[in-house]
Amino acid sequence: MKIHTYEKAFLAVGGVLLVLCAIALVYATLGHGAHLPTDVGRIVPQDVYTTPPFDEPGVRQTGENSYQVVVIGQAWSFVPSEIRVPAGAEITFISTSIDVLHGIHVEGTRLNMMLIPGQVSRMHHTFREPGEHLMICHEFCGIGHHVMYGRVIVE
Ligand code: CUA
Repeated sequence: MKIHTYEKAFLAVGGVLLVLCAIALVYATLGHGAHLPTDVGRIVPQDVYTTPPFDEPGVRQTGENSYQVVVIGQAWSFVPSEIRVPAGAEITFISTSIDVLHGIHVEGTRLNMMLIPGQVSRMHHTFREPGEHLMICHEFCGIGHHVMYGRVIVE
């Protein structure tokens, strides 16, 4: 008899937790605009270098305090491999891969994207402090995976 009571209580706790998680998810999505940093567009992997904005990889100013950083992932490097951005500016990273699955992670930040062939990834970030960050590929992409890295220099 006792066991039934505990089971009921346990189920109730589980149910409440599920509802709380669902509420948190909806709140994060609608209230804070949180979403996975992927799939903002499609692109033909073979045509990346001739398709805007990837025909001009690098940093470009898009507003008074906003910049766009276009990075291409390929086996086994980032193009460009060195990125210079000002501290305090709103940076939009736009990236894709021309060959296999890569990743991009800027160390010491929450900047972390999957680079999927055929798909454009985008993420916003503001570097508060000047400094240098390592930018690494975090998806195993073959024999040169460990040498696929670059630098983000915040000035
Ligand atoms: Cu690219 Cu690992």
